[in-house]
Amino acid sequence: MAKLIVANWKMNPGTFREAKTIASSISKFAKHKKNVEVVVCPPFIWLADLLHESPHGVRWGAQNVFWEDKGAFTGEVSPAMIKDSGAEYVIIGHSERRHSLGETDVMINKKIIAALRAGLRVILCVGEPTSVRKKGLAVAKRYVMSQLHKDLHGLKKILHSRLIIAYEPIWAIGTGKADKPEDTIEMTRFIKSLLLTTYHLPHSSVLYGGSVNGKNAQSFLRHKDIDGALVGGASLKAGEFKKIIKIAEENG
Ligand code: PGA
Repeated sequence: MAKLIVANWKMNPGTFREAKTIASSISKFAKHKKNVEVVVCPPFIWLADLLHESPHGVRWGAQNVFWEDKGAFTGEVSPAMIKDSGAEYVIIGHSERRHSLGETDVMINKKIIAALRAGLRVILCVGEPTSVRKKGLAVAKRYVMSQLHKDLHGLKKILHSRLIIAYEPIWAIGTGKADKPEDTIEMTRFIKSLLLTTYHLPHSSVLYGGSVNGKNAQSFLRHKDIDGALVGGASLKAGEFKKIIKIAEENG
């Protein structure tokens, strides 16, 4: 199955000029790649312009979304607006939004429902903090299961292949300390079986995120149970990100 490689630029880079340079380099490279799907999620302010400049090669996504279609919600962006811009994906529930911006599972649940209804592909981020992982992988699994139950509450009827899960242990994000691939495999298998038994989703995609780079990408992407990667820091360095795309292509 083709691997999915998602660039999460977060609140980077500093200028539109830099954003254009990175985006065009990535999209030119990705254009002729088969067997891999590349998604770039830049800050909202540049999403439509970047998409317009590089409509081919990569697909485009947002890093967040609100749950209403329109109205008096200062600073928010609706699923319909993202869809209308031409973007196809949205990241929901990133740990930075959960922990630094107070996003709750109830809010995340509403966002997922609204985004799926609007026809977007949702990349739902889940993952445990260090304090949980210290107690072992079994405890981390229970933590992730509880997140999934809350975030996907009431969604049984509308869940389908447009839902992608990104397993991102919080302690691995931006730290240079990636998870052990064997632990990631155990977690991705666990998430897939949970989605199958609880939500009757037979072919769900589960990505890994957390300090993925050109050096360690192979150790994750070579496994069939890891369907791709959500990449932060390394996605802002075009050369490094291209290495990850190439590895994904070879392992797809
Ligand atoms: P990182 O970020 O690759 O810089 O660890 C991943 C993410 O936050 O999605």
